[in-house]
Amino acid sequence: MTDVPTSGSAAAAKLVVLVSGSGSNLQALLDACQDPAYGARVVAVGADRDGTYGAERAAKAGVPTFVHRVKDHATRDAWDEALTAEVAAHEPDLIVSAGFLKLCGPRFLAAFPGRYINTHNSLLPAFPGMNGPGEALAAGVKLAGATLFICDAGVDTGPIVAQCAVPVEDDDTVETLTERIKEAERAQLVAAVGRMVRDGWSVEGHRVRLG
Ligand code: GRF
Repeated sequence: MTDVPTSGSAAAAKLVVLVSGSGSNLQALLDACQDPAYGARVVAVGADRDGTYGAERAAKAGVPTFVHRVKDHATRDAWDEALTAEVAAHEPDLIVSAGFLKLCGPRFLAAFPGRYINTHNSLLPAFPGMNGPGEALAAGVKLAGATLFICDAGVDTGPIVAQCAVPVEDDDTVETLTERIKEAERAQLVAAVGRMVRDGWSVEGHRVRLG
């Protein structure tokens, strides 16, 4: 069993958030962190590409940003090493992949065991990968949703921290369903990260317990 307790001190837990795109989940965390009672602050935002709106949101909030593009490194492993070092330099208590479109490698996972979480827009283990809402729609499921999980070496396979469901409406398109999921996903992310940093968490096998 891995126990990841908080320090128990009044100091806000340090979050590093990784993004590849619009960063609406990042924004929800930045907004939540405005309240000292939330118990966390975003100390850095990293991206795998230039010009993301997520990085712009971070800059507007006065949060330092960094970019590591895979193509700027000789190998995927070198990219993983550089990303790991940069994230580690911020001494994060928790790292949040929020729309980060890269799988981190073994070095990264080993450096932050149980501390790297990802939010995904399906009810895992259904519809892992890049097109959760589209696959949910095509499968005709009546409930879709979002899953927050602790990353392991697989694609969207790690221990689940939280899940929330939204209805699939008869007239949904991929766009409308994606937006409905994202709204619920942001609220879930804020609530679950808050609980994790304030109360700690433990992982036993594939089961995560908060508090
Ligand atoms: C989220 O729905 C996440 O599940 C998916 O990408 C989206 C990121 O959205 N992987 P944003 O960049 O936080 O707005």
